[in-house]
Amino acid sequence: MQLQLLFIPGKNWRLSLAELASFLEARRKKFSAHLISRDFFVCSFDEKINASTIDDLGGIIKIGNPVANLPTETVQSAFLQKNREAQAQIAQNIASCSIIAKMLEAKPDKIFFGVSVYCAEKSLRPLSKIIQRFIGSTIKRELAAHNKKSKFMGFAKDRKQPQLSHVEVLKKNLVEPQAEVLFCIGEEQTWIATTIAVHNPFEFQKRDIGKPNQRKIFAMPPRLSRIMINLAFCTPGKLLLDPFCGVGTVLQEALLAKAKVVGMDINPWCVKAAEENLEWLKREYNLPEADFRILHGDARSMAQKIGWEQADCIVTEPDLGPALRHIPTEPYALKIIRKLQPLYFGFIEEAYKVLKKSGRLVLVTPYIKTRSERAVTMEIEEKILETGFQRVYPFKKEHFAEDVKVPDALTAIASFVDIEERHKIGREIHIFQK
Ligand SMILES: C[S@@+](CC[C@H](N)C(=O)[O-])C[C@H]1O[C@@H](n2cnc3c(N)ncnc32)[C@H](O)[C@@H]1O
Repeated sequence: MQLQLLFIPGKNWRLSLAELASFLEARRKKFSAHLISRDFFVCSFDEKINASTIDDLGGIIKIGNPVANLPTETVQSAFLQKNREAQAQIAQNIASCSIIAKMLEAKPDKIFFGVSVYCAEKSLRPLSKIIQRFIGSTIKRELAAHNKKSKFMGFAKDRKQPQLSHVEVLKKNLVEPQAEVLFCIGEEQTWIATTIAVHNPFEFQKRDIGKPNQRKIFAMPPRLSRIMINLAFCTPGKLLLDPFCGVGTVLQEALLAKAKVVGMDINPWCVKAAEENLEWLKREYNLPEADFRILHGDARSMAQKIGWEQADCIVTEPDLGPALRHIPTEPYALKIIRKLQPLYFGFIEEAYKVLKKSGRLVLVTPYIKTRSERAVTMEIEEKILETGFQRVYPFKKEHFAEDVKVPDALTAIASFVDIEERHKIGREIHIFQK
């Protein structure tokens, strides 16, 4: 029997979907996506996927267990046309699903629950708050009919979408009693689900700002490091290399993913800092088996120190250029890129030597905003192909259910851009294979 799960992605939903697909593919877990949108994904699996998988992923915010579904037409009729019969049908769907039965079994006399609406269907998006209140009131009424008191979590008026954040779900303790209801509206189908896992930002934050050595400007967020590790097919026991390791953020996440790691940096302070950070991680997360080595050296000649065909995967972010105070002009951005290019090209050649056959290289290149509003990026395609690498396109047709019309725009995606509003230089993330 096929099992379905519902996933709520982070802001960069395509990157989250690519991470999920790579994570499952690397573990040979067959899945097919039935619905993909920036709001949620619905996938089915041949075998059980543990809720704790969320801790292995950097890009998934919530995992839900779908318990019922209905045609979105009914939801449109209920809320766009205000059709009473359609409203009654939705109430009936909710009343008869296992969520109510579970809540009735729960110990406390008064149940506290939450409802979040994720809407991928444009016509209903402006009505999300009304729909959220309808679902909440329906559950409350149904529970009252069985003599169970309840209260559902409200939102501040200025909240754009009626969705509980992962922090709220954690703080209000809604996961264990399955007390968050997800109402996820797709273009054709609407799913009713309960949250079975949420991303724990406090753990990632601890590794970001709790480690002994930090660098504010150059550091990569642990969540992004985790996403890149998964894109690299890094599974337990594999050897991961980060030859521009800085203070070791990628290496930390790889150790938690049970990989063996080797780091390198040209700056002796970074070598020591990364070593101390990994020792800290080993203690803090009780990882007596953690296998790591940090070398001092130049990534442009790393094959000498590391040896040929040693690494299963390379995940790295080389120098992205100077910290800029203002958005640069296009010519200045191009100058920055030209100056960095020899470092990247020298590294790419060495990466090919050091990687095992079929090994993946997940590489960040700079993505520079400019005053002309045209971003400047690094041209590496020719160098990559000339060296012998192939580009990996993360989305394949076989990831999707047969009845899903996979947009060409998705299968054509060759890299991902990750940039925050306030930053001038962002990251372009590429996946290559030897
Ligand atoms: C953007 S930082 C990497 C940040 C790292 N991911 C982290 O979170 O700490 C780039 C690092 O590359 C190092 N580096 C620059 N040129 C290098 C080279 N030729 N070989 C090895 N490391 C180099 C720098 O010292 C710096 O620590």
